[in-house]
Amino acid sequence: MIDPFKRLARKGLFLFDPETAHGMSIAALKSGLVPACQLTPDPRLRQTVAGLVFENPLGMAAGYDKNAEVPEALLKLGFGFTEIGTVTPKPQSGNPRPRIFRLVEDEAVINRLGFNNEGHEAAFVRLAALSGKGMVGVNIGANKDSDDRIADYVAGIRRFHSVARYFTANISSPNTPGLRDLQARESLAALLSSVLAARDEAAATSGRKVPVFLKIAPDLTEEGMDDIAAEALSHALDGLIVSNTTLSRDGLKDQRQATEMGGLSGVPLFEKSTSVLARMRKRVGAALPIIGVGGVSSAETALEKIRAGADLVQLYSCMVYEGPGLAGDIVRGLSKLLDREKAGSIRDLRDTRLDYWAARKA
Ligand SMILES: Cc1cc2nc3c(=O)[nH]c(=O)nc-3n(C[C@H](O)[C@H](O)[C@H](O)COP(=O)(O)O)c2cc1C
Repeated sequence: MIDPFKRLARKGLFLFDPETAHGMSIAALKSGLVPACQLTPDPRLRQTVAGLVFENPLGMAAGYDKNAEVPEALLKLGFGFTEIGTVTPKPQSGNPRPRIFRLVEDEAVINRLGFNNEGHEAAFVRLAALSGKGMVGVNIGANKDSDDRIADYVAGIRRFHSVARYFTANISSPNTPGLRDLQARESLAALLSSVLAARDEAAATSGRKVPVFLKIAPDLTEEGMDDIAAEALSHALDGLIVSNTTLSRDGLKDQRQATEMGGLSGVPLFEKSTSVLARMRKRVGAALPIIGVGGVSSAETALEKIRAGADLVQLYSCMVYEGPGLAGDIVRGLSKLLDREKAGSIRDLRDTRLDYWAARKA
């Protein structure tokens, strides 16, 4: 249940088409009009993952702040980290509009943006101005017209190495034709070798080794998951992000919008992405960090991702429905859930429902 004020704000924003509303929310964050969230730090939520210290486990997922316009403002909303991008070497305009659709009854979104972004340089300049403050990850991708996609990822590592706290190699957007083919075993091996070599080279000169995560789709076969796990482990990848949007349209109420092409996110993605998360945790073992994303809408659903095997979680779509207070509500809610569970640390709850979620093939 959302409160009447939130309902009114949402009604106002929903008068606009989703992309205009998104632009307005970025403008509001830039202007400082959105109040910062006053959170009392809870040491039970603090964790070191992939060598980085996270104040709390909730992050803003990639795609909201594609051009690194508002990372600081997002962190002030209560997020423990935020991920800019996907950024590509050259600016590109993406697919024709309309290309974002709200499925209100389902609390879901379909998007086929196609990596619209201002390119590496624009995002780099903004991040450089932050001078390393804040837990900001950089999500990198390839231009649609690139004739060497792997080279685009390597360029991302080289360009952002001095300003990224971590990298995400996004090979799972359904909106760049052929991109998901990079998840196939041989292509993935080639990608990981090049990307991690570029990272190691940069680390040798800077003395700072930036972790690299791989973001995968939820629409994978068992063999596809086996292959990704094997390559992740053999290349000493720093972690996985599970998952991007889905091509599935199962169980939607809004049948009219369901026919739109693109990736589906929000509440209907929760089950599927959480099940894939658990099945990947089973495959990679306990040590590899995993960020769980897909349909997180509350402290309960965030904790469920952790119970299914996630170290950290991210969200995007449900903030469209719940508003900018959602991050703070979830972080405070997690502290209350830890009280209830009498848990000394959020880490203690990881994997406590791993078997349940791994068996649940949504
Ligand atoms: C409008 C929109 C744009 C997105 N753009 C990106 C992107 O550029 N790169 C990326 O890795 N994921 C992108 N995503 C996927 C999200 O990061 C996330 O993986 C997915 O939406 C599932 O989380 P959610 O259900 O909380 O939204 C986008 C999602 C939406 C809704």
